[in-house]
Amino acid sequence: MVSAVVLAAGKGTRMKSDIPKVLHKLGSKALIEHVLEKVVPFSDEIIVVVGYKGELVEEFLKEKYPEIKTVLQKIQAGTAHAVKCAFPLISQEKVLILPGDMPFIKKESIKKLLDVLERENVAGALLAAEIDDPQGYGRVIEHNGYAVRIVEESDATNEERSIKTVNTGVYCFRKPILAKALEGIKPDNKKGEYYLTDAIKILYDLGYKVKTVKVSWREGMGVNDRRQLSEAYKRKCYDKALKLMESGVTVLCPEYTFVEDTVSVGKDTVIYPFVFIEGDTKIGSCCEIKPFSVIRDSLIDDNVIINEHCVIERAVIEKEVSVGPFARIRPDTRLKRRSRVGNFVEVKKSVIGENSKANHLAYIGDAKVGKNVNIGAGTITCNYDGVKKHETVIEDEVFIGSDTQLVAPVKVGRGALIGAGSTVTRDVPEDSLVITRAPMKILEGRGIKNYKKRKYGIED
Ligand code: UD1
Ligand code: CA
Repeated sequence: MVSAVVLAAGKGTRMKSDIPKVLHKLGSKALIEHVLEKVVPFSDEIIVVVGYKGELVEEFLKEKYPEIKTVLQKIQAGTAHAVKCAFPLISQEKVLILPGDMPFIKKESIKKLLDVLERENVAGALLAAEIDDPQGYGRVIEHNGYAVRIVEESDATNEERSIKTVNTGVYCFRKPILAKALEGIKPDNKKGEYYLTDAIKILYDLGYKVKTVKVSWREGMGVNDRRQLSEAYKRKCYDKALKLMESGVTVLCPEYTFVEDTVSVGKDTVIYPFVFIEGDTKIGSCCEIKPFSVIRDSLIDDNVIINEHCVIERAVIEKEVSVGPFARIRPDTRLKRRSRVGNFVEVKKSVIGENSKANHLAYIGDAKVGKNVNIGAGTITCNYDGVKKHETVIEDEVFIGSDTQLVAPVKVGRGALIGAGSTVTRDVPEDSLVITRAPMKILEGRGIKNYKKRKYGIED
């Protein structure tokens, strides 16, 4: 049975931020979420140590992970001090400790670490990584696969600094042994902090074994400053693009394609550069996602074309639909099969029926649009009366001429024809023609010539 302690009290000084470091977003998730989602499957309880602006971290966790306990570390006196603050809450026999700032840690590595503690005769285990540029990390001094001590960058000799085996900050210990180690830790280092890393030497000197388990350097990466945050983001997106390519998706330029882990994409879909696909999004096969489009929390079926510069959020797009360029599809919209939403069209909380088209410059909000409907350029559903939103219903086979306002609540019956420039304020019966435009006047001789004469007195 495992208690996980996630350290998240630090200010993140190197971020130079007013927001606690672990709440900084990497994609659509905060840094700490990337860690927590890996820890959850192995933990019988999770304790997060909060400190700097702890109330913000607590509030965030309460909403997303209500079962997690938090404990306040009033002063940030170091990683060992943080674990000490959590210690009274720890109820399980095995303790897993992780920093809240390592978004690449894998579930498999946590499992491996816990397995070592379970199966081998050791007091603890720690995850270490070999890094070409170990700067900033604690260096692990080993003997026969066991850790002897960890020395932090600021306290290391030149020789120690050349060691490339670094501490990832992930450990597991048996609880009574951790207690013993914590007792012995003193703030005798350059920063005057209680370093959890000192636990290793204390245990070694007491004759306990702490095994080092190696993971890839990518997993060990901590995010301490904005540069590392950017690297982490780029790496996450690049890794995802590679995975997509391996599964049969064309990603034309993986360096400039930004798809989150949570997204799935079907075979033979082509993703162009400068596309962002985020959150809980599923895209089918044989789609084309053109440059500069953003898709968030949406379902897109097969053979869909999303043209350049579209923003799509919490929408469902059925097979063979074409969207954009420059379209905005807002939450709770469904574009049914073979429908078309073209340039500069905004659709909100609406259904566009099969084979219907709104090709240019329209606002469709709170509307139900049937099959084979043609919505002309400049059509607006006037859904808001300043107090409430109202619904517009457009039945099958309707033709709506350009520059029409549909003042909701209103219904346009099946097969009706609305003349261009109409303002529709009442329900329209099936199969009828509606024109509300003002009658056209012709005043002969009142053109430009007449105008110039009146304005400048010129006669030609
Ligand atoms: C730490 C390790 C280092 C390791 C690196 C891996 C120590 C002394 N050093 O260094 O060996 O290579 O992680 O990324 O442990 N925190 C608290 N309370 C505090 C101080 C820190 O909760 O008083 C939290 C931070 O919020 C952070 C984590 O502990 O999530 C690690 O702290 P950080 O300052 O990032 O440590 P590093 O310098 O990266
Ligand atoms: Ca760190």
